[in-house]
Formats: sequence, C-alpha cells, structure tokens
Amino acid sequence: MPEDFDVKLDNKYHLPDPAFIQNSSIMDYEKVYQESLSDPEGFWEKIAEDLHWYRRWDKVLEWEHPYARWFVNGKTNITYNCLDRHVFGGRRNKVALIWKGEGDDDERIFTYRHLYHAVNRFANGLRKLGVLKGDRVCIYMPMVPEQIIAMLGCARIGAVHTVVFGGFGSAALNARIVGAEAKIVVTADYAVRRGKSIPLKHLIEEAIINAPSVEHVIVLRRKQDQPIEIHSEMEIDYDELMASVDRKCEIEVMDAEDPLFILYTSGTTGAPKGIVHTCGGYMVGTYYTTKHVFDVKENDVYWCTADPGWITGHSYVVYGPLMQGTTVVIAECTPDYPDPGSWWSIMEEYGVNILYTAPTAIRMFMKMGELWPDRYDLSYLRVLGSVGEPLNPEAFEWFYKTIGKEKCPIVDTWWQTETGMHMLTTMVGQPMRPGFTGKSIPGVVVDVVDKDGESVPPGTGGFLVVKKPWPAMMRTVVNNDPIYRKYWSTIKDYYTAGDLAVKGDDGYIMVIGRSDDLIIVSGHNIGTAEVESALVSHKAVAEAAVIGKPDPMKGNIIKAFVTLRVGHQPTDRLRNELIYHVRITLGPIAMPSEIEFVDSLPKTRSGKIMRRVLKAQEMGLDPGDTSTLDE
Ligand code: PRX
Repeated sequence: MPEDFDVKLDNKYHLPDPAFIQNSSIMDYEKVYQESLSDPEGFWEKIAEDLHWYRRWDKVLEWEHPYARWFVNGKTNITYNCLDRHVFGGRRNKVALIWKGEGDDDERIFTYRHLYHAVNRFANGLRKLGVLKGDRVCIYMPMVPEQIIAMLGCARIGAVHTVVFGGFGSAALNARIVGAEAKIVVTADYAVRRGKSIPLKHLIEEAIINAPSVEHVIVLRRKQDQPIEIHSEMEIDYDELMASVDRKCEIEVMDAEDPLFILYTSGTTGAPKGIVHTCGGYMVGTYYTTKHVFDVKENDVYWCTADPGWITGHSYVVYGPLMQGTTVVIAECTPDYPDPGSWWSIMEEYGVNILYTAPTAIRMFMKMGELWPDRYDLSYLRVLGSVGEPLNPEAFEWFYKTIGKEKCPIVDTWWQTETGMHMLTTMVGQPMRPGFTGKSIPGVVVDVVDKDGESVPPGTGGFLVVKKPWPAMMRTVVNNDPIYRKYWSTIKDYYTAGDLAVKGDDGYIMVIGRSDDLIIVSGHNIGTAEVESALVSHKAVAEAAVIGKPDPMKGNIIKAFVTLRVGHQPTDRLRNELIYHVRITLGPIAMPSEIEFVDSLPKTRSGKIMRRVLKAQEMGLDPGDTSTLDE
C-alpha cells in the first residue's frame, strides 16, 4: 500500500538558466494551466486549429463516461500534418530524419521531400497488396528509417499499424499478430547490435504459424550482397514493392475517431492488451506536448532514443516531432558500443539540441563516469527529457550537471501507452524538483487520491488518477472493452493509471512505481503473468511466481520462484535452460535475471499466488496482512 512508502521529501529545487528558457513557449505555466481548466474544450480546440483538417469538427468533445469522442466529425490525416504540410509549406528540403548506424559512415539522411515520397510509395505498395482502410498491419523491424516509413505509410491509407518491438520473441509476436488480426507483416532480414547481425525473419516465420489472418510478409533485405531467400509468393521484397508503385498516393481522409494504431502493452492477467488510439485526438495531444514540453524551435535537432516499437517512439520519435517539422535523429546504436562515448559522439556530430531518454540509460552513463561525455561538445543541448520510470534524485543531479551543465531544463515526463501523450512534467521554465515529475500538463487533470478517490493531503502517498478525459486517451482495448471500462471504474469514475505516487507540499507529484503486477524493467513494462506462463510452458516447471526486485541500474529486475514437476532436479543447468526458454518465447527483454527453485509458493486459501509475500521476503520486509495465506 502506498502508505508503506517511506518517502523523503527533499525541498531542493533547481532553477533553469534564464538564457536557456528565453522565449520558451509557455512562460507562465500557472496562468496557462488555469485557463485550460476553466475551458478545457476551448483550450484543445485552439490547438487543433494549428493543424490541417479536411473538415472541421462539429463539437470538441462528446463524453459519455468512459467513452470519449474528440473533434466529433472532424476529418483529417495525421500524415498530412507530418509530411505534406512541410513539403508544400516551406520545409521541403529541410532534413526530416537522420539515421545513424554503428559504423562511422553508417548514416542516411531524408529531407521532408524524401520521406514524403517514400511514405507515399509504401502506402501505394500496401494498396497494391489489397490493404484497405481499417486493415491491420504488423511492423516488426529494427530501428531503421523503413520502420517509420511503414508506420506513416499505413496511416496514409488508414491501415491500422501495430508495431512490435524487435526485442520480442516469436510467441509474444504471434500473440500480437493474432490479437490484431494482421493482414500484412513488415519485417527485415536482420537488426544490428554490438557489431553483430541479429536475424529477425525466422522469428516471423515461426510467429505466423497459426496466424491465419496474415496474407503477405514484406521483407526489407538490408544485406544486398547476401540477400536472404524469399521463400514463397507470400513474401515480398520491400525494394521491389517500392519500385513497382508510384511515388504519389492519394491520401485517405480519416474521421477523427477512426483508429490510427494498436499498440500492445503488458497486461496483469497474462495476455497483452492491444491499446487502441485514434486519429484526431492523438494527433492534437502529441502535437501540443511535443511543441510545449520540449519547447521545440525551428532549427532544433531532436533525438529521442526510444524505439518506435514503444509508445514513446510512436508519439515522440515519429508523430509529434514530424508534426513540428523538426529534424529527428534515430540511431540503431547501443549506448556503450563500441565505447561509452557512442551516444555523446552522436550528440556532437549532429548538434543535438533536445535529448529525450530513459533513467536506466542515465544511470548506466553515471556509472561510467563523466570522462566519456566530457570528451564531446554537448554545448548545443537546450532541453533534456526523461521517461519510462522514476528519475531518482541522484540520476537527476548527474544528468543536470554532467550533461546539461546546470543550464538545461530537465523535463521528467510521466505518461503511459494508454495515455498516448505526456500527462505530468515540469514544464520548461518552471523550478525543477529532483525526484518529482511535476504537475499536470495544461488541459490535463492528474491527481493523487486514496482508495475512495479523495485527493490526498500534501506529503501523502496514494494512487495516480486522471480525473477528466484528454484528447490522446486510448479509446478501447482490442477485443476486450471490459478491461477498458475497468480503467475508468476502479477508483470512483476516474482513470486509474495503476501507479503509486506522492504529492509534495508544493503540488508536485513523485511517481513511485506500479501498484499492480506489472514490472518496469529498464523502463519497459513487463507483465508478471506473461513471464509466469512462459515458465510453466516448460516441461520441468509445475508453478512459477514472478516479482520485480529493485535494482540500482535497471529500476527492477525480474526474479522468478519456480516449483518443479516430479522427476526434475533444481540444477544450474535447468536454471539456465529456463532463462533461455523465456528468452526464445517472449524475447530478451522479459528474461528473468534470477530464478530460485522452491518447494512451494505462498498462496491464498483460494489458490492465488501471493507475490506480495515473496517480494517482502526477498527485500527483508514485513509481508503485511497474511491472514488469507494458506497454511
Ligand atoms: O509506471 C509508470 C512508468 O511506466 C508506466 C507506463 O509504461 P508504458 O505504457 O510502457 O509507457 C512508458 C513510456 C511512456 C507507467 O505506468 N513511467 C513512465 N514514465 C514515468 C514512469 N514512472 C515514473 N516516472 C516517469 N516519468
């Protein structure tokens, strides 16, 4: 329970350097916030007017709890706002995308015109394969420009993309392809990591067995000198498809409430949840937050280190920044390969002004010391951002001093796959309080409440909720609307985020961690149930329980407790085999770091595993109320 958290409320603030916040887009946060509260619809309407619509909305919001329709009957296409607006509006030859690979010369640069034509071609390619508005397309690719081209190509013709992070294994991939009923899968022959090629296509071959919806697999063959084989008519070469179609594609006019994409996130019950986002509200929410949270300026070079396989990549690598017409850097690079200077050399090389990354990466760099960043010129930097897990005060201070030279504001942004856009942060120009994310974004009402929904007093812990609808909110969960409704009915009629938080005496919010069975590992959301079911699918395992164990680098690591079936011995060999089994089933990101063999698991009398008890034992804490524990 949140009351158990012993939170030290430090009263330390940092004020951003005035020179760095001059001309910031929002100089008076409190005033803007109050205005947004007094007329939320008018607030969002004004923002929507910045964007291109084929037809104006009749009404900003129709809210029948828990169902929202934003920009009712408005017609648009987000790719018009990402591409056409710039190509036909003065940014035609501006650099849209810089891709950086591991080698010194591995670089590809796309102007807005290049990107526009590539996206149009891909969209035409999809149409040639019979893809229609509303059809689902699964994208399973490494971090290459074609991944973004495929996403935008789908959106151009109204196909709903579902991007799966390249680190997922074949079973996880199959669940997502089947769940979304994908008609097309887009993949590549390999990804690059630490100087090695990691083959990807065989995972797709396994994942589409028992996925009857799949009609075609589009394969990007990066290895031109040794191209992998195309096995059947089902498989199509990406380059051949692109060459066979026109570079102008008629755009699909989308209703504001038509789905734009599905993105799977971990569920608490085993099956991942397909979160559905729609065209209009998502467009307005990500446009606004990119512009004002990062305070983007015309000549900025912007680098968000997330993979587009996650929501951070959707909203703040692809859609938000391209709507701003900014220059986006993407890198298929590991932060410490070939040495721990690789990221800082990218920052220097391209003159990155805005860096958006994760606490786990910051902590890794911190461990390696300031010598590495100090070798590079980071003087272009203006704004630093963090996302995915709590940015602990030590990591904040290091990021602020060593990277931001005590000048750059840090925006620690709290949000989720479900929220689609930033919800809490400390806007550029406001005093920053290490350890605290900050306050609600204008137009958004986040609060910390007790289990009855009453707002907690300052200095107290509670549950993080959102009290009013916001434009980029998810609209449903694929094939599971009851789960969607549950988000809005657990605490009063608020949206319950599933996070625990503390409210400071100044109204700043500190996010502490999950209140449910999700584990945030290096900023990635992993469901205990999914890992447990992968473990019990191994022939030696009778039962498994998984917990998140706090870790100074990764935030949490996955620890599994396993009971064995008769005839199997708890050996190191079996332990390694189980870790490997999870790796190939779910992918490297879900691998347990520790496995402990036990004789039995603590359960309630009704047979539910009490992970809470295991976690308390692991951390040497009092397990709390164990009255329901079975003897
Ligand atoms: O627990 C919170 C944590 O990440 C969860 C959402 O995960 P996901 O949907 O994968 O999206 C991650 C990127 C937006 C949240 O419920 N989280 C996210 N940002 C923060 C955070 N925890 C603390 N501070 C943050 N800034």
